[in-house]
Amino acid sequence: MTMPNMHYADLKDSYLFFHIARKVRAYQETHPGVHLYRMGIGDVSLPLCDAVIKALHEAVDDQASKESFHGYMPEPGAPFLRSAIAEHYRRRGVDLSDEDVFVSSGASDELGDILDLFDRSNSALVIEPAYPAYVDANVIAGRRIVHLSSGRESGFLPSPSAEAKADILYICSPNNPTGAVFSRKQLQEWVDFANKNGSIILFDAAYEAFIEDSSLPRSIFELEGAKTCAIEICSLSKTAGFTGTRLGYTVIPRELKRSNMSFNDMWIRNRTTKTNGVSYIIQKGVAAVFTQEGQRQIRENIAYYKENARILMEALDAAGVWYCGGKNAPYIWLACPKGMGSWELFDWLLEKAQIVGTPGEDFGSCGEGYFRFSTFGDRADTVEAARRLKELL
Ligand code: MLT
Repeated sequence: MTMPNMHYADLKDSYLFFHIARKVRAYQETHPGVHLYRMGIGDVSLPLCDAVIKALHEAVDDQASKESFHGYMPEPGAPFLRSAIAEHYRRRGVDLSDEDVFVSSGASDELGDILDLFDRSNSALVIEPAYPAYVDANVIAGRRIVHLSSGRESGFLPSPSAEAKADILYICSPNNPTGAVFSRKQLQEWVDFANKNGSIILFDAAYEAFIEDSSLPRSIFELEGAKTCAIEICSLSKTAGFTGTRLGYTVIPRELKRSNMSFNDMWIRNRTTKTNGVSYIIQKGVAAVFTQEGQRQIRENIAYYKENARILMEALDAAGVWYCGGKNAPYIWLACPKGMGSWELFDWLLEKAQIVGTPGEDFGSCGEGYFRFSTFGDRADTVEAARRLKELL
């Protein structure tokens, strides 16, 4: 008899954002026509910038003529895009070669797929509160998970310690959901810890473009020794509005080896087996993000979301609510007011103010008592949500 992967039985019965969407749908069915202020899932509200749209159109036209048509793309990514991304790092002082960069169909796909590189016996450290896919992907693979709680006392940025020992270490900075960002010194401690123990860090850099404090590291490869202990997974979703268009990239330095095996070589082998590359059209669109004009245009969109964050933070300040994040990250992480639990606050805000947020406890048990607002919404909605929050809190 075929045996299913029984680890699915160990998962929570529905994924966080799926669960929220179901609750919101139920509310809408009983309140038809009521407008909702969506600050739950971190989905962007601005369209792709002009430079990207132009490049996408040109790439579509390329596919219309025999001379410029592209069939299968190289599995690790088109050379023009690998080179544009590596150059983007080099401009910031991180010395990467084009071959260190892999183009992916998105960071969330990659965070699950990359686990193919690791033996099932490896344990995985998840610093909580955390993006729930880290835990779920490892539950599905049947791995032992080491949960490390963090809290307000460390600014949700814990230091490595004996209880954090694991083979795979997930680090997300700027963090989803707390918006906290590791300083150079703090991140160096994790790099040294990984090198000392032979662990590998999976560094989720999906929100690096939101860092405005130049003293904070945007890539783990800014740190000494990271090339021998880290893989960086990055996304265009939030940086350039690609949540629905899809593209990410992963950096696996050729120096990264264990038991004489190169992770870069293994990933080439994996991608050539499991993918046929990412669409030529989308890769062309993303290459435009890394031009000077593309960078200028995406910065305008990021500034719009940052203004949303400022408006929400001002409302929370006025209401005397504790929060972190928002400044170097597109998420605001707040303490639930009035002693409410995080799902209790979810229901209350939906009912009283038609505001949708994300309950903290679904990012790990230490997230109970906290709540997350995404700042990717529409400006007029954000202003009205802030007004309602001030009034209600
Ligand atoms: C979030 O809201 O945490 C993210 O948008 C989810 C994701 O990136 O998949």
